[in-house]
Amino acid sequence: MKVFDKIIDINSYIQHQQELDKTIGFVPTMGALHIGHISLVERSVAENDLTVVSIFVNPIQFNNQSDLEKYPRNLQRDKEMLENAGVDVVFIPSVEEMYPEPVTTTYDFGSLSTVMEGEFRPGHFNGVAVVVRKLFEIVMPHKAYFGEKDFQQLQIIKTLVRDLTLPVQIEPCPISREDDGLARSSRNARLTPEMREAAPFIYAQLLEARNKASSMTAEELESWMYDSFSKHQLLELEYFKVANGESLQQRRGKIEQNDYGFIAVYAGEIRLIDNIRLF
Ligand code: PAJ
Repeated sequence: MKVFDKIIDINSYIQHQQELDKTIGFVPTMGALHIGHISLVERSVAENDLTVVSIFVNPIQFNNQSDLEKYPRNLQRDKEMLENAGVDVVFIPSVEEMYPEPVTTTYDFGSLSTVMEGEFRPGHFNGVAVVVRKLFEIVMPHKAYFGEKDFQQLQIIKTLVRDLTLPVQIEPCPISREDDGLARSSRNARLTPEMREAAPFIYAQLLEARNKASSMTAEELESWMYDSFSKHQLLELEYFKVANGESLQQRRGKIEQNDYGFIAVYAGEIRLIDNIRLF
């Protein structure tokens, strides 16, 4: 497995591979890898000649300094996991390498980036779009893999690629979960034992919401969710929204085909997100 930390080096290696007509799959990550990340990597390894993974904790997508500082990092273990999964190339740039000067580019994704995560994490999706666009320029992948765990991020990236006609195919991948239903996340490692035990409640409630979706309006389902969290001792609901899976616009009235439930919950200091297709 080749490990690069300089843009110029990985870029010339990839150019050479492109000349040899190799197909390139790419999985961008922020490290602290878990089985969820590896499920994306395995798809890429199966579908491409060469798989590239980036590990970069992107400072400009964090709107909370403490979240950035405490973001789990475990490079040695990450590299071992990637090597075992059959990854060909890992790119681990420094912040100075990616951002020699402060970034001035901004993207406007309209209402896609002002609802849900966009509303509660201002600037977050601009930071994601900037880094993903840069990584696409550097890695020049044919296919790039994104998890449905970060559903809104996936929609933003699809829009970026479509608007700018970027020559990459975006491949959505299903949410990987722990046995008790909790969506896998690097942040789970920061949960206290008590919070870790409480956290599966989130997915249990999403499943319950899916059962209720045919007999309730979007408004009724949302207020049922707020009620059930208000009775919970440990978990604090930030939002639960029923929205269309394409436009992400909040549904009012009857829940329709391709509507999802999107949720963000605080387990102590740790913010967890999840989603489920309702109908
Ligand atoms: P990160 O949170 O490390 O996630 C990297 C990729 O793994 C994302 O596409 C994410 O959706 C996917 N992923 C994480 N947990 C998953 C799970 N339980 N099931 C399925 N997929 C999962 O998302 C980012 O990093 C960053 O925003 C990034 C795109 C790298 C830009 O900085």
